[in-house]
Amino acid sequence: MAQLIDGSRIAKDLQDQLAQTILAHTNLGRRRPFLTVVLVGEDPASQIYVRHKEKACHSVGIDSETIHKPASISEQDLVALITQLNADPSVDGILVQLPLPKHIHSFNVISAINPSKDVDGLHPYNQGLLAMNKARHVPCTPSGIMKLLEAIDFKFEGKIAAVIGRSILVGSPVARLLLHRNTTVIHIHSKTPSPWALARQADLLVVAVGSAKLIDAKWVREGAVVIDVGIHRIDDKLCGDVDFDAVKDQASWITPVPKGVGPMTIACLLLNCFNAYVASFDKV
Ligand code: GUN
Repeated sequence: MAQLIDGSRIAKDLQDQLAQTILAHTNLGRRRPFLTVVLVGEDPASQIYVRHKEKACHSVGIDSETIHKPASISEQDLVALITQLNADPSVDGILVQLPLPKHIHSFNVISAINPSKDVDGLHPYNQGLLAMNKARHVPCTPSGIMKLLEAIDFKFEGKIAAVIGRSILVGSPVARLLLHRNTTVIHIHSKTPSPWALARQADLLVVAVGSAKLIDAKWVREGAVVIDVGIHRIDDKLCGDVDFDAVKDQASWITPVPKGVGPMTIACLLLNCFNAYVASFDKV
């Protein structure tokens, strides 16, 4: 049986440390960091994620607000809201919860965020810095995955990783981060022929495909580390993109769902927000 990578504990340790650091700042008489979350529409999963983010902010001493707009908002009005938040010196971080309604181009909205306040690391400028190994705000889930791998002392250099999925939120940035650590990356996506045959060569699988229990034993080499980014509800039970029971005896380490990657995404958002806050003092 694989060992579990306890994302809840690792995230809690990061958040406890961050709470202490924020306290040290506020004890000097500084204001608290501030995150604005923009939520558009009524997607139930997004509403739950946003609540978790707000709760986590408050637990470490970051103030936050959620601006909830109806699904009918125009792209132009959403961009105008972002422009207003960019100009507000009391806002350190801006996060636009994805997905957005179909009539809005998320690229245009994300591109409107001041890159310094883009705590999701999704702005083209921040993605470019990441591609050039000069990252400032790294997207939260990829950053959390790297911290999980560091926590189990994964040796990146010389290893083969299969990244399954190529979204801008997870697959593409995590592949970059692994490359920067001298891991050899096989990037698998929906058009890859015989994807399991490639994945089986890997020492590390990072799975972010958004399809419940897609990955079974034939994808996983004996002793591989498996990071499962997916989260789905089936018959009132949560599961990931990986069929946990089918691969647990083959992997050496595996993230559970829930309590694996999810808490790390939130912890890294808080860290990015704190970094944006600290950088705002350097600017004045
Ligand atoms: N939707 C699902 N995950 C995320 C995330 O990390 N950031 C944003 N903005 N939206 C998401």
